Amino acid sequence: MQEDTVDSDADRRSFLTRLSVGLAGLIGAVISLPPIGYVLSPLVRKPPRKWRDVGSLEQFPMGETKLVQFQDASSTAWAGDTAKTGAWLRRTGESEFIAFSVNCRHLGCPVRWIKDAKLFMCPCHGGVYYQDGEVAAGPPPEALARYPVRVVDGNVEIETSPIPLTTNDVA
Ligand code: FES
Repeated sequence: MQEDTVDSDADRRSFLTRLSVGLAGLIGAVISLPPIGYVLSPLVRKPPRKWRDVGSLEQFPMGETKLVQFQDASSTAWAGDTAKTGAWLRRTGESEFIAFSVNCRHLGCPVRWIKDAKLFMCPCHGGVYYQDGEVAAGPPPEALARYPVRVVDGNVEIETSPIPLTTNDVA
């Protein structure tokens, strides 16, 4: 009789131990899923792309290369000034434009258009690009990225995408 009670106590203890471990594991999984999802979501989420109005056609004289600013497609509501990005926009025809990314293909520093030299220069490590965006000198591994451009109702629009540092970043 006493042996039955001991067995029953051991069974109950064993059951409760397994139940506690199981519940702790379940609670741990429920608590850790949201942070894991947050950390891994950029790997599966497609980067956002949006068309941004950068000005009317008249603001861009033929052949000139002008700096335009617009809001990054992936910016958050609280990003403030950090949400701003830019492009060097050149008008090449009545409704044709080229929008070069301002970000150097080496490490992303903003490049400057030097009108007289017809070159884009990067201040960080001496990267130089020809006027068509191809690399002229320095460490940049490839040409400046370009954004798609369109004209809608007399306004020029640029399709934004995450800051491109490699060829794969801009489709
Ligand atoms: S970031 Fe432009 S040359 Fe290094």
